[in-house]
Amino acid sequence: MARVKVLDKEFETSIPEASILKSIEQVADKMNKDLADKDPLMVCVLNGAFMFAADLMKNLSFPCQISFVKVASYSGTSSTGTIKHLIGLNEDIAGRTVVLIEDIVDTGITIMGLKAQVLGMGAKEVKIATMLFKPESCTKELVPDYVGMSIPNDFIIGYGLDYDGYARNLRDIYTLVK
Ligand code: IMP
Ligand code: MG
Repeated sequence: MARVKVLDKEFETSIPEASILKSIEQVADKMNKDLADKDPLMVCVLNGAFMFAADLMKNLSFPCQISFVKVASYSGTSSTGTIKHLIGLNEDIAGRTVVLIEDIVDTGITIMGLKAQVLGMGAKEVKIATMLFKPESCTKELVPDYVGMSIPNDFIIGYGLDYDGYARNLRDIYTLVK
């Protein structure tokens, strides 16, 4: 297993690129069946999902559009702590099928917040696609519609995921060595 050092921490390979790409093909096959006649707007949640979104899009065979959004956090504005606010979605999504593309669903707080906001903007339906899913740490009643891989509750980097902004460029996924 290959090891990398990023800033002060050591990581080792846990999911090789070939397995990632294989699981994306399976996600795409399912989307190609489900979404063929829905003309969906794919919405890539930056920064982490850029690599997953690119590889996923290459495997989709139905008409669709893609847009890119960011999540801005405002703390202390509600009793629950941090509100994550969607910025950059300028398309008219009234009545449309929207597919949110995420790198990872951990607690599920981010993606459920985004889903509620997109529904509030008038989308007909919102599907959630995530490359990685940590079911053990997911606090919300949430099962993503499309999951590349379910993984244990460990900190990972690579394939778009970062540690303090670094390591997004790694082709494989690496897990923190404890
Ligand atoms: P959630 O709101 O807890 O589901 O958080 C999801 C966000 O946390 C993701 O979009 C990532 O940016 C970040 N995140 C969660 N787990 C990891 C990880 O293992 N490595 C890097 N980023 C992570
Ligand atoms: Mg993210």
